[in-house]
Order: sequence, then C-alpha cells, then structure tokens
Amino acid sequence: MKIVSTIKELNVHITTAKKANKTIGLVPTMGYLHEGHMALATAARKENDLVVMSLFVNPAQFGPNEDYESYPRDLDRDMRIAEKVGVDFLFAPSTSEMYPTNGGIQILAGPQSEILCGATRFGHFDGVLKVVTKLFHLTRPTNAYFGQKDAQQLAIIETMVRDYNFPIEIRSVPIVREEDGLAKSSRNVFLTDQQRLQAPVIWQALDLATTHYLKYDNDIEATRLAKEHIETNSNGRIDYLQMLSYPDLTEVTEQTEKILLATAVYFGNTRLIDNIIFQRKGD
Ligand code: PAF
Repeated sequence: MKIVSTIKELNVHITTAKKANKTIGLVPTMGYLHEGHMALATAARKENDLVVMSLFVNPAQFGPNEDYESYPRDLDRDMRIAEKVGVDFLFAPSTSEMYPTNGGIQILAGPQSEILCGATRFGHFDGVLKVVTKLFHLTRPTNAYFGQKDAQQLAIIETMVRDYNFPIEIRSVPIVREEDGLAKSSRNVFLTDQQRLQAPVIWQALDLATTHYLKYDNDIEATRLAKEHIETNSNGRIDYLQMLSYPDLTEVTEQTEKILLATAVYFGNTRLIDNIIFQRKGD
C-alpha cells in the first residue's frame, strides 16, 4: 500500500490506472477506521482493480460548536488496517492541500439536508458534498463506497451524482450489526453496561415498524409503535424517528417505491443512529 499526501502524486497514479483501463474503487473516510470502513474497503476490493481510500477529517462538515479539533485521529493504526483490507493507495492530504483557497463557490445540499440529522447540523451536508465532489474529481473512481448507516448522507450523494451526471456508480454497503442487532458504531463504547443492554431496542423498533407498515400500509401507526417500543423498553431519548420516501427524503405517498425508516436515539449523551431501507410493496 502506498501513502499519498499530495494531489499531484495522486494524479500520477490515477492517470496511470486510467490509461491501463483499470477500474477504481474509492472509499472516502475521515480515518479512525472501524469495522464499518473495513466493510466498505472489502466491498471495494472485490469489485475493482484498484482501491483508493481517502483519509481526511473534513473541516467543512463540522459546525463551529462541533468536535473537529477533538475528532479522533490515528494515522499509524489506520495505515495498518487499510493495508490489511487491501487498499492500494491511502490518500491522506493536509487541510491546506485540500483547501488551498477560500473560494466563494458553494455546493448546497438543499431540502434533503434540512431534516433528520441535518435539522441540528446546519451546513453539515454542504460540507460533505464539497469534499466528496473534490474526492470524485481527484480520484476519478468507477465506484464509490458509502455505508447505509449514514442513510441521509448516502441519499444526498446519490441525488447529486444522479442530478449532476457524475460518471460514478455509488455503492451502498449494508449496516454491520452486533449479534443482538445493535448497529456497530465507534460510539457504542461510550454506552454504560445498562445502556448497552437496552440499545438493541432501536433495531427492534425499526423491525417492528417495518413489519407493521408492510402489513397495514400505515406509516403514522408504524412509527408510533416504534417510538412506543423504545420509550417503554429503555431510557433512550428519541431525537427523531421518521419514515420517508428514499432517496428524495420527502413524505411517503402512493408513488413511493423505496422507504427509509430512520432514527437517532440518545442514551445519556451518546447519540446512536440506525435505519432500514425497504421496498414499499415488500419485494
Ligand atoms: O462518512 C464520512 O465519514 C464522511 O462524511 C465522508 C463521506 C468521508 C466525507 O468527509
């Protein structure tokens, strides 16, 4: 595996690969790699000649009161993990390499970014699109890999790629779960023993609501049941629990084909997110 820190060097490798007609799989990350990232890289390894993983803590997607400075960073550990999962190029640029100027052009994520996690993270998805657009241009991937865990991010990136004709296939990688259904997350370590025991109610609630919805076609009742399940069986505090049309993230209607059922639940100060994406007609 090669570590690349400049755009110039990256461009040499990408141009060589393109000339040789190699397929390129891009795995964008902010580092501090965990099993979710490993699942993305493993999928990329299977489906491409070359795997490029980017590792960049993107200041543009952090709000002024968010944890940009304290976001965990460990390049040595990340290098070992990336190498193990078969990454060919680890692109780890500095902030000045990625953002040498403060140009005024902005990419705005629009209405899809104003709900769910976006309701409390103003500008977050604009910052995600900014860096993802740059990474797409820099690495010219055939396929780019994103986790379904961040379903809103995935929906917004898929929409940008579709609406602005990026010649890239977006590959969504399923959520990796613990045996009891809890979605794997680096934040799970912050749960107390009691919270950890209760946290699987999130997945149970999503499952319950999906089953109910597919039987009775009633999204209001399905989400009510899910909220009730969380509130009755845990001390979890629901931030949001919503059923929306996917990927446009609008109200579910007769025309909706795919549904996103997404939630964020606080256990103490730990905010856990989870979701299910399913076909409205159940196939
Ligand atoms: O999902 C993430 O880790 C980040 O939002 C991404 C896509 C790497 C952009 O910084």
